[in-house]
Amino acid sequence: MTATEPAEKLLSPVLSASWDDHRPWSLETYHRHEGYQGLRKALAMDPDALIALVKESGLRGRGGAGFPTGLKWQFIPQNDGKPHYLVVNADESEPGTCKDIPLLFANPHALIEGMVIASYAIRCEHAFIYLRGEVVPVLRRLHAAVAEAYQAGYLGRDILGSGVDLDITVHAGAGAYICGEETALLDSLEGRRGQPRLRPPFPAIAGLYACPTVVNNVESIASVPSILARGKEWFTSLGTEKSPGFTLYSLSGHVTNPGQYEAPLGVTLRQLLDISGGVRSGHRLKFWTPGGSSTPMFTDEHLDVPLDYEGVGAAGSMLGTKALQIFDETTCVVRAVTRWTEFYAHESCGKCTPCREGTYWLVQLLKRIEAGAGEAGDLEKLLDIADNINGKSFCALGDGAASPISSSLQYFRAEYEQHLAERRCPFDPAAATVWADAKQAKAPQPATEREVHA
Ligand SMILES: Cc1cc2nc3c(=O)[nH]c(=O)nc-3n(C[C@H](O)[C@H](O)[C@H](O)COP(=O)(O)O)c2cc1C
Ligand code: SF4
Repeated sequence: MTATEPAEKLLSPVLSASWDDHRPWSLETYHRHEGYQGLRKALAMDPDALIALVKESGLRGRGGAGFPTGLKWQFIPQNDGKPHYLVVNADESEPGTCKDIPLLFANPHALIEGMVIASYAIRCEHAFIYLRGEVVPVLRRLHAAVAEAYQAGYLGRDILGSGVDLDITVHAGAGAYICGEETALLDSLEGRRGQPRLRPPFPAIAGLYACPTVVNNVESIASVPSILARGKEWFTSLGTEKSPGFTLYSLSGHVTNPGQYEAPLGVTLRQLLDISGGVRSGHRLKFWTPGGSSTPMFTDEHLDVPLDYEGVGAAGSMLGTKALQIFDETTCVVRAVTRWTEFYAHESCGKCTPCREGTYWLVQLLKRIEAGAGEAGDLEKLLDIADNINGKSFCALGDGAASPISSSLQYFRAEYEQHLAERRCPFDPAAATVWADAKQAKAPQPATEREVHA
């Protein structure tokens, strides 16, 4: 793939290939798109060979950190006499991140098939889906798809006559961002308040009910059936050397056609904007996040950064969840960072002091800067607090909360200083709304000189 290729050729729909079909979520539609073919191949393999294949495909976790999926499965100790568990992380709550929910809504069988394959590989007989509780329509659809899979013999006892057993439990969380952190998720699933656990031991050794557990993201597991069905060579022919395969990029914000764009890893924002109609008409890109609000922001200097784990890392951020939130020049960066920081302060679980106190303090400072009441030294204080949260908190929520502060001050310090100097916010918040331009277009235009003299 090169930057000069026509934009539409960049797309590689796999998980999203059936989304425009009639009833894409049904088993019937899934069967028309090679559904459950990967499972048949997997069940004919030895579980260790299956783990080796997923390792060799180079699939990396799509939940944010990009950890190699096959390697994670290999960490599960064998012949230990304990039950093994697979837990799918469908908590998806990070601002901007919106790929797993549409994927589950439109194509739940891709996840179920992937879960049967993964469970067989790690010798698990009971797997769980931990779904963000607010998305009730997705919960209903998942329940229906799991029931359909039981009826068709893809779940339950002696799956497809292989002697393999698997039950799936769908669990709805109560809607806390921290329950997406894998160890907090396990605590929550066990019925406790969701707070991160001290590691080691890691979930692969002592996870759910103190037994070996794999926690994987929805998209990671849903990507596995296609690797089985089409082969690891097909998968590695997509993407880049260290970040092979396809993935869902979620474009939101000031973009003409927001939505999910499934493309090989390593495409650039410039290419994705070409496909999605660009930044909204009459405006220009100001800043964007490559992987949700926890990843350091980028600017228009970074339009050609390859969106894979290495490319984004080398440019100073993280690929994260590939949630590309686009902001044009009407957006006040201080306002955007204040909103994100309010989210982190609200979602901080309170277990450790740097995050619990730091995020609260950051919000106070940001609010007063935004309101034009900032004081000399506030920017240094923001940086100092962010520095005391980043890397010094108990879990990565703290690091994520520090990201927007330090990256916005790196690229937009002058805008913060303008708030301090002018003692007001120099932006009109209404101009950043989606209806602002439509309103302007409808408003009566001032008479031209010709009209006045006619
Ligand atoms: C605060 C916080 C929230 C997270 N939320 C999610 C989430 O909603 N979904 C997810 O898959 N991973 C989330 N993660 C990452 C998980 O801890 C874990 O790394 C991931 O589920 C592993 O799956 P993967 O290897 O397939 O990427 C979160 C991490 C943190 C620190
Ligand atoms: S960093 Fe925040 S969310 Fe994570 S354990 Fe500490 S207080 Fe809880």
